[in-house]
This record gives sequence, structure tokens and C-alpha cells, in this order.
Amino acid sequence: MTIRYITLFFAFIFISGCAGWDTDTTGRITQKAMVVSAHPLASEVGSDILRRGGNAVDAAVAVQFALAVVYPDAGNIGGGGFLVLRQQDGSVDALDYREKAPGKARRDMYLDEQGNVVEELSFKGHLAAGVPGTVDGMVEAHERYGSMPWAELVQPAVELAAKGFPLTRKEAKKLNEQRKDFIQYNTQRPSFIIQDRWREGDNLRLAELAHTLKRIRDRGRAGFYEGETAELIVAEMQRGGGIISKADLAGYRSVWRQPLTGQVGDYRIISMPPPSSGGIALMQLLSIAEDYPLKDWGWNSAEAAHLMVEAERRVYADRARHLGDPDFYDVPVEALLDTDYIRSRMDGVSLQKATDSDAVSAGMPAPVESPNTTHYSIVDQEGNAVSVTTTLNSSFGSKVFVAGAGFLLNNEMDDFSVKPGHPNSYGLVGGEANAVAPGKRMLSSMTPTILERDGQLYMVIGSMGGSTIITTVYQIILNVTVHGMSMQGAVNAGRFHHQWRPDWILSEWGALGFGTGLEMWWRGHRIAPKNGGIGRAAGILVLPDGRLEGGADPRGDDAAAGF
Ligand code: GLY
Repeated sequence: MTIRYITLFFAFIFISGCAGWDTDTTGRITQKAMVVSAHPLASEVGSDILRRGGNAVDAAVAVQFALAVVYPDAGNIGGGGFLVLRQQDGSVDALDYREKAPGKARRDMYLDEQGNVVEELSFKGHLAAGVPGTVDGMVEAHERYGSMPWAELVQPAVELAAKGFPLTRKEAKKLNEQRKDFIQYNTQRPSFIIQDRWREGDNLRLAELAHTLKRIRDRGRAGFYEGETAELIVAEMQRGGGIISKADLAGYRSVWRQPLTGQVGDYRIISMPPPSSGGIALMQLLSIAEDYPLKDWGWNSAEAAHLMVEAERRVYADRARHLGDPDFYDVPVEALLDTDYIRSRMDGVSLQKATDSDAVSAGMPAPVESPNTTHYSIVDQEGNAVSVTTTLNSSFGSKVFVAGAGFLLNNEMDDFSVKPGHPNSYGLVGGEANAVAPGKRMLSSMTPTILERDGQLYMVIGSMGGSTIITTVYQIILNVTVHGMSMQGAVNAGRFHHQWRPDWILSEWGALGFGTGLEMWWRGHRIAPKNGGIGRAAGILVLPDGRLEGGADPRGDDAAAGF
């Protein structure tokens, strides 16, 4: 224990010493329309659709498929996601295209005969995959809101896959790091594996994926959930011991849901309801922040960081207990968002001393009658806005390629609570609300969000990062609305995160600064460094004169494009 404390103390010294976040900067500015995504080529594809007269949903469909090619660690057709929409007239909508547990899934499918969790079974390999929702989601979004022909939206991805594209340095490095897993978890050698190492600038051509995308382009949902692609997925499952069946694929449907909306101070928040925990948690966190003088305390001051961590500790305890798929579990949404309930969660919190997470449990909201990912944000010329977070779960999902179809399957089953109290890959715990059941959607932290101010579109924001998505979006919103940063500065700014369990603050290098870090330590917080950054966000801010400012995350290859 003492050694752990000493190690954490020295880690903290390093964390505190390495500041240098460029918050005093402005992102790309455009006059009319913008796309911010994790890859410059995908942002250009979306911007081109907008330039040709497509609307924000048309651009979202094109960006989703383009990311499935150029950003294979999280862009996908073998995963799922959430889309939040605000139209120029103020109407809102939310699409849930989250993966579902296959029909043969069982509550104890990741446990051995003694009831112990079999490590990695829900995380890597064929059994880790949920039934993909992405293609159905894009078809649904297009049918309801699209304006351009479907085929024209899929075509740019077909061309990128068929001709190939140059790898960025970061992507080449990630592909090389995955080589061992790609070999171990695949029944046939995927085209991502070459004899040599990938290098920056190498052309990655994905011929099988191009054929799959052509089938989707020509046949829509049937190009994925039926026919050749479905047969290839089921054959892959049979070779690798997976359980996704033809019936699972044919039966998959995404769901339109009522977005969560709520006023916090001057801002109306529009975000994703369950099965995401993101919207509820974000609103709880922002509501708590509203009661304290964060601006006077200053950005990442010890007072502000302490308050934010104490709020996060309680909000994530609620997440573990109360949140799951609303189609299977009665999630007390209204009760969790009740102002008095949220306030009561902070009763007795010391503003000086850290609470031990063991002393914090989920609250009991009063019953009311009656949860590696990527995010893209889009605003079109008419002022329609789309906020999409999409995922395979961890980087390159289950590591399993569908042989002959050239795409990766998700490992989203790990987002279920495979055993009460057993932490998943993000260290998140859960129970009954998020237990595995056939056809159920696993709880998510994805938080695609849109903000209004004075009835007008103000910000489009979201992030990748598993459990840290919620706190990333939370901090960026506070950076702009409380601390007055630009969109780019707010995205650049260093981040920290607490999720109740494990009981420590994860912090980017230098995010808290030396003085704050030391005081936090003194108050009883434990701080652990996070290599590689927390979250990767994509935001668009509407400036007072109506122009758009992009916030593209420097932690990745992210880019803003538009006109
Ligand atoms: N797979 C990450 C999430 O949905 O929260």
C-alpha cells in the first residue's frame, strides 16, 4: 500500500509538472457549414456532400462510411452508435443504432463453471461481438432525414477503400501494435497484416471492404443484413465459435428515441437517453456545477477540480446501479434528473477533503410515475446540426475481421456487466440493470450532445474515450460556457476524470498543474497519469456573428473541413 502511495505521489509530480495545453487559440473558422471528425479524409468527404447541397444527415451518412475505411480502429460498419439531431427549426431527434446481444447470449456466458469471469472472453474474439447496428442506423437516418440519393453517400467510401489512402503516422503505429492480436483472433489472415511494418504514407487498399460497401451502396440494409455479407458474417461466427446468427442480423432494427433535453443555466442541453448513460450523467454533472462558483475558482483550480471530482464520484455510482437498456430495465430517468435529487447527492460533501469512494453508493431517486469510439459533429448551410458518436468499443473492436467482407466486428459485449461488481475494460462496474440478456443493448457512455442558447444552435460536441467520454464532454462544455475558451482551446485543454471506482483521478500530463495537483493530493485525492490522452473530441461552436468555429482534437489526426 505504501509503495502504491509513493508511486502515485511521484506519478502526480510528473503529471503536475508537464503542463502546456494550448487553450488560448482559435480553431478553423468557416462561414456556413462544417464537419469535424477523427480523420481529415472523412471530414473532406462530409464537407463535399454539404457543398453539393446535401444536408447534415446526408453528410453524417457519408462520414460514417468514410470513417469505416480511413479510421478502422473506431470508424465502422461492424459496430454501432448514437446520433443526435437538431434541425434548423429547433426540432430534435435521437437515433439509437447501438449493437444488441445475439439471441443466443446468456447472462453467465462469460463465466466459467465456478462462476468466475473468463478474462478477455467478452473483450476479444468472436464471442465479444454484438449484432452490428451501424448500417441499419444509417439507412434509418437517411430514410427519415436524408435528401441526396443513398448511393451517392456511400460511393466516396467505396472509392477510398478500392483505391486506398495514405496512412497517417498514428494509424500506421496502431496497426503495427495490433498485429499480434489480428493474427491470434482471426480465422483467416486479414489484409491489414503485411510482412513488413506499416509506415506513414503507405497506401492501405481494402478490396474486400470495397465490395461489401458496394453491396450496401446498391442494396441498402439488405446489402449488409441479408445475402452475401450476412452469410460471410455467419460463416465467420461458425469458424470462430461466435453466436451471431442469420436471424439476429435479419432482425436488427435501430430505434428512434426522444432525446434528453434540459435547461442548465443559459443553455439547453440536447443529448442521448439510455441505453446511453451519457446524457443523464452529463446533465447531472452540469446541474451540480451550476450551483458552485466555478468561474471565480478558475479553470482547473484545486477548488474546481475537487468539486468536479466529488460530483463525478456520485454520478458514476448512480450509473453503475441504475442505468441499462430501457427496453429491458426500468431506468428511472426522470427521477435521476430531478433537481432536488441531484442536489441531494452533494449533501454533506466537504469542499476541502476527498470522499472515499467506499463511502459513496448509488442514490435512491424517488420513483416517478408514469449509459475505441469516435465522434463527428456536423452543421450544414441551413443550420441543421448532427452529433454522432460511433464505436467498435475498444480500438479495432474484437480484433475479428469478417473474412471475405473485410471489416472488423465490435467487442461491445464487454460494455455489459458480465458479473455484478466485476469491472469491465474501462473499470466500470454494474449490476442487474446492465446484465447480459438476448436482444438487449449494452449500456454506453457515448454522449453525442447539442447545446442551444437563447433558442439558437450554440454548440455540437462529443468525444471518444469509453467511460471518460462523459467527463470529457462535461469539461469541454464548462471550458466554453464557464471559462470563456474558444472551441479549439476548450478541446485542447488538459482533462482529468473520476468514475467512482477505481477511486482515483485519471489525469492527462500537466492537466491539473503543479499547485492544483499538490493541493488535490493534500485534500486526499489519488491521482494517476493517463498516457495517450483522455478522450478525443470533435466540436463546432456557433460564433456570435453566425460563423462556425471547429474544435478538432490535437490528440489525434482530427480535422475540421467546411466552407
Ligand atoms: N463502447 C463504449 C461505450 O459505448 O461507452
